[in-house]
Amino acid sequence: KIYPVILSGGSGTRLWPLSRAVLPKQLLPLVGDNTMLQETALRAHSLPGGVCQVMPPLVVCGNEHRFMVAEQLREIKLEPLAIVLEPVGRNTAPAVAVAAQYLLAIDPGALMLVLPADHVITDVAAFHRAIIAAAALALEGALATFGIVPTGPETGYGYIRAGLPVAAEAGQGACRVERFVEKPDLATAQSFLAAGNYYWNSGMFLFRAERYLSELGRLQPAMLDACVAAVRDGYRDLDFCRLDEKAFTGSPSDSIDYAVMEHTAHAVVLPAAIGWSDVGSWSALWQVQQGDASGNVVRGDVYLDGVSNCLVRAERRLVAVLGVRDLVVVETDDAVLVAHKDQVQRVKQVVDHLKQQG
Ligand code: GDD
Ligand code: MG
Repeated sequence: KIYPVILSGGSGTRLWPLSRAVLPKQLLPLVGDNTMLQETALRAHSLPGGVCQVMPPLVVCGNEHRFMVAEQLREIKLEPLAIVLEPVGRNTAPAVAVAAQYLLAIDPGALMLVLPADHVITDVAAFHRAIIAAAALALEGALATFGIVPTGPETGYGYIRAGLPVAAEAGQGACRVERFVEKPDLATAQSFLAAGNYYWNSGMFLFRAERYLSELGRLQPAMLDACVAAVRDGYRDLDFCRLDEKAFTGSPSDSIDYAVMEHTAHAVVLPAAIGWSDVGSWSALWQVQQGDASGNVVRGDVYLDGVSNCLVRAERRLVAVLGVRDLVVVETDDAVLVAHKDQVQRVKQVVDHLKQQG
């Protein structure tokens, strides 16, 4: 049995002004009508039965987002196994740890499919094939990751050096992870690209809940102890699983990549050509969408004339754009962004500036 565990904790400041702390990108409809959280849940849920059985999702999110998360799952008629609320964010390693404990309590053999709530995957059939192959590896005790062929020396990703192939009939090109380097500097990322046998870590994982916890206990014992206490001393009410605030707050804060994947000997990478993007910027969002004949991606009440390769999004008002190219224009209730497509990384500075001003 595969249990999707959906991580819905990020704030996605790079998609300002649309995504905000109160409304992060995973809770927004960025592509199509569903929100990214809904898309993630449906994508996992539609895994064809047969070899593996997919169970309802377990969502881990911040306390402040609980009603939106519950409502969005209701909208798509997907009753979650549980919605686990974090009183404070402690990054992904503890989030996965508490999910693993809930799952172990109901199914000692649980396989967990860890999915960030804010990714776009365009080839869902290939994604499903990758999950089935990864499940076979996870059953053998692997911590399986999904490797993406890199297209540039991005410094915001984890890099995986593929080692010897895993001899499994379901393997689909799976290899041992020889090295896992989270967020290298630019020079290091460039050397990885030149070397050629590196993948990006997609941030999705598949492993036995029990295997993850035993690795965490070996590598980060204080984190495991805090997370065990947070679940043990927490409680479940009608709709939500609430962690014990004091125990969870006491956990060290770290990502699964730094805390576990860089150090474990059980990591296996499965190459996954699935049309993946973590839509970390407006230009990435432009890229994953099918534009019109002039390469424009528009949404909302938009008028274009003589415009090419632009992303234009109108939330409230009519937006008219004339005679320009390669721009991102995003209109919301209280803020408007106009930026060149190659400069959208600087949105982060705007957010920092606004934070400083309070
Ligand atoms: N519940 C919960 N709690 N979710 C969280 C938390 C938390 O404290 N922190 C982050 N998340 C969620 C985010 O919403 C996102 O969906 C996912 O976990 C990954 O966190 P990011 O903060 O977006 O990580 P990253 O993008 O810097 O790096 C990760 O993803 C890359 C690919 O997108 C790493 O796994 C990299 O190795 C990977 O390449
Ligand atoms: Mg991310």
